[in-house]
Amino acid sequence: MKKIALLLVAVVSIASAQVKGDIEVPYIAFPIKMGKHFDAVQANCLTCHSFGYVLNQGPQSKAFWEEKVQKMIHAFKAPISEQDQKYIVDYLYSEYGNGKLK
Ligand code: HEC
Repeated sequence: MKKIALLLVAVVSIASAQVKGDIEVPYIAFPIKMGKHFDAVQANCLTCHSFGYVLNQGPQSKAFWEEKVQKMIHAFKAPISEQDQKYIVDYLYSEYGNGKLK
């Protein structure tokens, strides 16, 4: 009996643990650069996640971006044509590159 009473107290306190007031979700704006071949990124890279995933990496080398595009294709099965793969790497490196090839 005592156990049931304790359980009831637990259930009631969980049920009343609600958030008061409105919950505000922060709006995060990503500054997307409209560089050459951005359309290839738009068509192939934004279907599974936002552009924030890409920008969060900071400026990177060409090899880094090539590797990421290959990872999306092999690990996550993104269907991206060879031509678009090249366009995307060119775009990422020219807009979000660190000037290094490797
Ligand atoms: C088929 C779905 C899919 C597509 C299309 C896709 N991604 Fe991803 N991407 C993922 C998943 C899943 C993750 C990993 C999420 C996690 O680990 O939280 C990810 C993560 C990332 C990351 C974070 C770093 C990392 O290594 O995990 C980057 C950068 C990235 N993607 C870039 C791209 C680019 C550039 C493209 C376009 C060429 C692209 N993604 C297209 C599914 C996709």
